[in-house]
Amino acid sequence: MKITYYGHSCFLVETGGKRLLFDPFISGNPLAGHIHVNNIRCDYILLTHAHSDHIGDLETIVRNNPEATLVGIWEIHAHYSAKGFRTHPMNKGGWRSFDFGRLKMVNAVHSSSFPDGSYAGEPVGFIVHTTDGTIYVAGDTALTRDMELIPQTCPPLDLAVLPIGSNFTMDIHDAVIASVFLQCRQIIGCHYDTFGFIKINHEEAINAFAEQSKELILLPIGETKAF
Ligand code: NI
Ligand code: MN
Repeated sequence: MKITYYGHSCFLVETGGKRLLFDPFISGNPLAGHIHVNNIRCDYILLTHAHSDHIGDLETIVRNNPEATLVGIWEIHAHYSAKGFRTHPMNKGGWRSFDFGRLKMVNAVHSSSFPDGSYAGEPVGFIVHTTDGTIYVAGDTALTRDMELIPQTCPPLDLAVLPIGSNFTMDIHDAVIASVFLQCRQIIGCHYDTFGFIKINHEEAINAFAEQSKELILLPIGETKAF
């Protein structure tokens, strides 16, 4: 599988022959000014929740990718299907097969509302399982023991995308514990550095994971890496 980082919590995951875009927030990110949102092509858009730093470029992406299916929790599906978007609803605990592989929606400990304050259901994470491997995208979340259930209920994880910026989500120390709960060695960090509240020391973060024999990968924005 190939992963391209577009900054903050936005990733393109190429797996199972399809392009899955998570949490499109790019043009509002001062660190992602070199990313051309209009050039992004995807088959699926997955939303972990509806905060503005996760959906900022959603409407642009949908306009440019009219065949793409938006996957979100029921309330996010209801909101966007009413606007005429192509959507697929899920909720926590369920698996669903798609043409790239399987998705499971899992718990996240955070909040969720649309930018106007209206209810957007609950925040979620996703497990993506394809013939290329299995990846967990946590979304915005605190550390939770629910993460221990993932290795019990899902194929072994090859990779986990975890928030590490603190203030709004886990910090690096809780994310190290999460990676132990998840039994996952390779972690991609997200939700750090974008705003002043979530600036982190990269070397300290990488070392904290290394002490538990985990590898923290901090992708430069715009970079694609194969796993
Ligand atoms: Ni959030
Ligand atoms: Mn966020």
